[in-house]
Amino acid sequence: PTPGWTTRADVVVVGSGIAGLTAALRIHAAAPSLHLLVVTKDVLAAGSTQWAQGGIAAALGPGDTPEQHERDTLVAGAGACDVEAVRILVTEGPDAVRELIALGTQFDHHPDGELSLTREGGHHGDRIAHAGGDATGAEIQRALIAAVERAPEIEVVQHALAVDLLLSADGGIAGLTLHVLGEGQHDGVVAVHCRAVVLASGGLGQVFSQSTNPSVSTGDGMAVALRAGARLRDLEFVQFHPTVMWLGPDSQGQQPLISEAVRGEGAFLVDFEGTRFMQGEHELADLAPRDVVAKAITRRMIESGKPHMWLDARHLGQDFWERRFPTILGVCREHGVDPVTELIPVAPAQHYASGGVATDLVGRTSVPGLYATGEVACSGVHGANRLASNSLLEGLVFSRRIADVLPGELRPWAEPAADDRPEGLVDGDRRRAMQDVMTTRVGVLRHATGLAEAIDFLGTLDPGDPDVGPPAWETSNLHTISTALAAAAAIRTETRGSHWREDFPERDDAKAGHIDSWVEADGSI
Ligand code: SIN
Repeated sequence: PTPGWTTRADVVVVGSGIAGLTAALRIHAAAPSLHLLVVTKDVLAAGSTQWAQGGIAAALGPGDTPEQHERDTLVAGAGACDVEAVRILVTEGPDAVRELIALGTQFDHHPDGELSLTREGGHHGDRIAHAGGDATGAEIQRALIAAVERAPEIEVVQHALAVDLLLSADGGIAGLTLHVLGEGQHDGVVAVHCRAVVLASGGLGQVFSQSTNPSVSTGDGMAVALRAGARLRDLEFVQFHPTVMWLGPDSQGQQPLISEAVRGEGAFLVDFEGTRFMQGEHELADLAPRDVVAKAITRRMIESGKPHMWLDARHLGQDFWERRFPTILGVCREHGVDPVTELIPVAPAQHYASGGVATDLVGRTSVPGLYATGEVACSGVHGANRLASNSLLEGLVFSRRIADVLPGELRPWAEPAADDRPEGLVDGDRRRAMQDVMTTRVGVLRHATGLAEAIDFLGTLDPGDPDVGPPAWETSNLHTISTALAAAAAIRTETRGSHWREDFPERDDAKAGHIDSWVEADGSI
């Protein structure tokens, strides 16, 4: 049921990381008279952006070119990228990063004043700008929040979970419902009358038991879009970061990332015998694309029966560690490992959703008035495996593109049509069991049998007797996205990029087409 309108805004931006705040700032700059509302599920800084360590990739260094960046992006994407989207990313990327600098982001520089650029997996050159050594996302988030605070006309509501989109009779955006927790004048479920929604709500890491993503990454934006009739694409391409600190077999939820930049600065992987097993696996060895390294680690783990491998970064030395990777050094030491003198135990864990809500080259989705940007979106730039440090760049570049078109194509105000979408909530206490099934059956290694088990488990899950509220909304969103993801993974009967089928171990270009997810009239996905 639709409550009466609680408030109205021309445009609602859902999410407050690099994609959401860039969209808000750019739309405001392009059309200052529009009433803009930014809603975010926790506080402004709580999303994935602030956790980004390695940096942001762009052809900014001497001798580097967008063409070389494009080549590396396409190779990592394993034949599933949209070439035009990649070209836009790499050609508009350098200016977008320069704009971030103009906004106040303090990237690291060499003593001679040149931007300090590093290398990560899959890049054939140094093109990753970083800040605070390994605290790039935190610095970008700080600068963006400061810029939003300098634009008080942009209204911000924190602790507001997007529950559902409200559609008019033509299937376009009429508004959205939010669950607001004690912020400002509203509390509980409110309805916002609006003319456009920009989804920038991040990824789905909490679908899995271990992820580098924060606890807020519950796939809300993708689930909300799916329920509203939008097409999702490439959901099976879930990226597992190769070097996540292994904290023991029972560790759940957000896990500490050991940035690829540590390998970019010379660290290398070894097995329990001390063998550097990435040598001979790929011409880039420890800096091969992420899927190659994650697969090599997983293979070694299976062959040796060990729960992790090791990262050796001792030779970097105390001074370098303190200057270049202060955050990672602190986290390792917090967990009882001193990387200056000891090996770091690492294993792959979920890191990034390369797929998401399908968009065109300016962020439009298949629902009129609904745009998507950043990790929630599938713009086509990542294909089957995102190249390291292209994620912050994607949010930046495509949010700018949304702001270029959105003010000129705003829909008229509309009332919502009757909503006959099937309802269904899943109790928050089902989350752990779903995560376990997704991790063991739809994780790094996939097989038809396990995928069928996961699909059956999700399809027959007893939803319990949930209280209406954020735990049930989030768990329902996780259930929706897990269902779509497992189905897509079962349909793709080949191995490509981050999608690894044990029963179909080869890439098969006859099966290279995209797999879309959508909701049927009866509510099935
Ligand atoms: C990292 O620092 O290794 C992560 C960078 C990324 O995910 O692009």
